[in-house]
Amino acid sequence: MDVATRIEHALVSALTVTTTSEAPPRLAEAMRYAVFPRGARIRPRLCLAVALACGDDQPELSNAAAAAIELLHCASLIHDDLPCFDDAPLRRGKPSVHAAFGEALAVLAGDALIVHAFATLARAGGAVPSRLAALVTTVAQAVGMPSGIVAGQGWEAEEDVELARYHRAKTGALFVGAAISGAVAAGHDPTPWRTLGERLGEAYQVADDIRDAAGTTAELGKPVGRDVVLGRRSAASELGLRGAIARLDELVAEAIAAIPPCPGAAALRGLIALQAKRFLPEGLARVAA
Ligand code: IPE
Ligand code: IPE
Ligand code: MG
Ligand code: MG
Repeated sequence: MDVATRIEHALVSALTVTTTSEAPPRLAEAMRYAVFPRGARIRPRLCLAVALACGDDQPELSNAAAAAIELLHCASLIHDDLPCFDDAPLRRGKPSVHAAFGEALAVLAGDALIVHAFATLARAGGAVPSRLAALVTTVAQAVGMPSGIVAGQGWEAEEDVELARYHRAKTGALFVGAAISGAVAAGHDPTPWRTLGERLGEAYQVADDIRDAAGTTAELGKPVGRDVVLGRRSAASELGLRGAIARLDELVAEAIAAIPPCPGAAALRGLIALQAKRFLPEGLARVAA
């Protein structure tokens, strides 16, 4: 089974809880609406790519880790789009969850997906208990305080924010969680995988800032120009478009160079170089050339 199919199957399986007759139907639908159809699925791909590079000896566990990471990402998008954060009416080319279901169900759908991500890990970890605690800790660090996604969103309420720290928390942390949980799920030492996640996560947020500044709603499926309107710190406004693109290239090169020695290192280097080419839409990538 290819990686994309593994991810979709793992997510469908993780969300079976929404299909039981006990579940409140509109909340259940809002949860599925936030997860399907897919976005880039870049974080679960990273998780499985690292697991495969490390031998992937427990595929059910790495599938669960990948699903948990993506459920947490989808939850973060629901909450990020709410009127009290970025007030975005569109996501993945369709009305954002609160626009489609109302704010109350959007808050609950995000909450339920967060809880469910951990339940998904716990269920799969029962078969490999020696790896479960490290997996739960890794994923919790990626989303919690003091340096995960919620911390990143929390920095938006502060006067003084350092761009790199803000990016590391709001986006980098989940990439670190994705890379490290792939290694942990495959029974490898996670320490050497941290830098790859950090650099790739920062690169991805720099690319998102560039897309926000210079992309179009039609190609991105979400509002653009929001960073300026909301007064957010952004690589595009601080480094200029060309400067931000140069920074993006630098970070991707550092990410690739940080891949530690492992059986699948060469394949992983090729995969990341290929994925990174898609971080910017074609027209924007040409600005860099
Ligand atoms: C959007 O992430 C939020 C950021 C941290 C940049 P993605 O661009 O991966 O969103 P989807 O999953 O493809 O919709
Ligand atoms: C989102 O950052 C990071 C999250 C924690 C969800 P942005 O607010 O810059 O991402 P988009 O542009 O809405 O996808
Ligand atoms: Mg935001
Ligand atoms: Mg946003």
